Amino acid sequence: MDRPERPRLAWGLTGSGHYLRECLDLANELEDVDLFLSRAGEEVLHMYGHPLTGLREGFRIFRDNTASAAPVGLFYHGHYHTVVIAPATSNTVAKCVAGISDSLPTNIFAQAGKCRIPSIVFACDTAPQMETESPSDWVTVYPRPIDLENTRRLTDFDQVVVVETFDALQAALRTRLAAVERELGATAPARQRSGLAT
Ligand SMILES: Cc1cc2nc3c(=O)[nH]c(=O)nc-3n(C[C@H](O)[C@H](O)[C@H](O)COP(=O)(O)O)c2cc1C
Repeated sequence: MDRPERPRLAWGLTGSGHYLRECLDLANELEDVDLFLSRAGEEVLHMYGHPLTGLREGFRIFRDNTASAAPVGLFYHGHYHTVVIAPATSNTVAKCVAGISDSLPTNIFAQAGKCRIPSIVFACDTAPQMETESPSDWVTVYPRPIDLENTRRLTDFDQVVVVETFDALQAALRTRLAAVERELGATAPARQRSGLAT
């Protein structure tokens, strides 16, 4: 497989509604983003009013429909400079911490680690009590100690930035994309159309 001229950003979408719209808007501001959906992520996108047909206008989309997570082969050939998983469910965070890769988002996280590609994870479970958006209204949830512990343990991983707020996600992306531009020079793939440009 040929190496691409310009690597892209791999964005994992899991089955979480937490800041989902904001995450999609942010991904939409960037160029060269591919979405990697978990099966739950695909369902939740529909529930929150984001059908795949609309998303395909802005993104290349990989659905979770192969047992081997076939698209991760792209990671071995320099197709991606960064992995973002946002928002990340407690399920996906737990699997990432345990080294389990059985969905597209957990597979791209694992392959990023094995290929020494930096990752940014926006964890949903960050406090004992949180307000989050359901498809119909705002609700209060109470992440369990195990959920909070998994989020904390993920911060120990090399080349993984764990962010707990949407603002922190924007800041981490800005930092990472500036680094990508430096690494790749004037032809950097991560040029942006709007606000995040540095
Ligand atoms: C409307 C809706 C919203 C959800 N939001 C969250 C969430 O914010 N955080 C979370 O951990 N799970 C959430 N879930 C549950 C996950 O989708 C479920 O745990 C799923 O198995 C996660 O799979 P994944 O991690 O492979 O995407 C939500 C489910 C539904 C139906």
